[in-house]
Amino acid sequence: MNYPIWIVPQIGGPWVIGIIAIIHIFLSHFAVGGGAFLAVAEWLAYKRNDSRLYDYVKSHSRFFILVTTVAGASTGVAIWFSISLVSPDGTASLIQSFTLAWALEYLFFVGELATAFAYYYSWDKISKENHLLLAKWYFAMSVMTLAVINGILTFMLTPGRWVETRYWLDGVLNETYLPSLVIRLLIMFAIAGMYALVTATRIKDEELRVYVVKFCAKWLLPVFFLGPIASFWYLSQVPQVTLETIFTGIQSSGVGNFSVLARALYLSLVFSGTIIVFAYFGPYLNPKGFTFKIALLFMLCGFIATGSTEWMREMLRKPYVVYNYMYSNGIRKSQVEELREKGFLTQAKWANATNPVKTDTTCGEKLFQYQCMACHTVDGYRSMKRLIGERDEDSIVSFLKMMDPKNKENPYKGIMPPFAGTENEAKMLAKYLAGINKTNN
Ligand code: HEC
Repeated sequence: MNYPIWIVPQIGGPWVIGIIAIIHIFLSHFAVGGGAFLAVAEWLAYKRNDSRLYDYVKSHSRFFILVTTVAGASTGVAIWFSISLVSPDGTASLIQSFTLAWALEYLFFVGELATAFAYYYSWDKISKENHLLLAKWYFAMSVMTLAVINGILTFMLTPGRWVETRYWLDGVLNETYLPSLVIRLLIMFAIAGMYALVTATRIKDEELRVYVVKFCAKWLLPVFFLGPIASFWYLSQVPQVTLETIFTGIQSSGVGNFSVLARALYLSLVFSGTIIVFAYFGPYLNPKGFTFKIALLFMLCGFIATGSTEWMREMLRKPYVVYNYMYSNGIRKSQVEELREKGFLTQAKWANATNPVKTDTTCGEKLFQYQCMACHTVDGYRSMKRLIGERDEDSIVSFLKMMDPKNKENPYKGIMPPFAGTENEAKMLAKYLAGINKTNN
């Protein structure tokens, strides 16, 4: 609340993060899974002493290096830019709480890049044994980057004992750490198989192509057998109230988070299922007929499945950015009482500095920007104009009063943070909101 606000018209800031993040996840999962793929494929080539397979691994490694080090790393940086613009409080809290973890992450990341380049540029220049060793090292480094970042990502949904101890390892090694690590590894292997199918279908020699295509399809098997078990393990560890939001929904707002979560779950299951069935009947049973175009289509399915799964995971956490600690709008749970007593605008430095006139409406607008725009836009995604509808000032005030942390009956408590301001501020926000349908139409 003490940072400038970044207003993204129509889609809203969170979708900027979302779009970049989904692309980055699809690339970075390949960086880890693909490392395992290269190591195993090269080991196979070594064991069979198969120069044609070596040639394939080498050409696949060029594609791999380009995708992961260029596109993967730059989207990773883009995530930092977008989260620090959209969610400065959340980002600051993650940096401050996990400085050591970030340092470790950076170290492994640099190690990963260094081994990736050493690996790629030493083809045919060092002994086969040493080259294979580099492949293994690359995989080890990339798994370590996952091992660290997985702690921070899972922390946001299950901060564990950190909430009391504030000790970084308690946050990293939280209750969903292990199941999430297993799920991600399984998905990474599947994604590695999917990427490799793209390059495998370009192999000219039919016998080798059939062999490699079938080999790639096998990388999707672990997630097929172990994915459901790991998912149940994971779901048993997430806060159970968040699951209720998926399964029972919010009675009083049928169009709320429930349907969004259910839709995301649905999408994720449908596309994952499609991939598995196609992988079996396509490249596994009929490797000969599996073409480059189908491989690309396959990737698209993988992309949508990854996107919807990650989206669902994000939605589970709402209305928090760090569960039970900080709301999506950057306000800490522990601050709400004080803000309701003393007022939000008196404490929010940037909101104050950028609001020189201070009429009721401009104050209301600032309150909207700082407390609601983490999830709503004025007239785009989750449009306030649409959601406010016909409500007048009085009914908006009672709506905001209902968003009280003490109100156990608040039907929105699983999806929206409480209103963090005084009664007078609620009136100012109501005045602004009641006006948005009138002024800008
Ligand atoms: C953490 C995300 C989040 C924040 C922050 C948030 N909302 Fe919402 N809000 C939602 C979601 C999700 C819905 C349901 C959306 C839908 O029905 O399409 C919703 C619905 C609403 C609705 C419609 C409710 C109904 O049943 O008619 C109103 C009005 C609303 N929000 C106002 C606000 C105001 C005012 C603020 C700021 C004080 C705010 N919201 C902050 C997520 C949020």
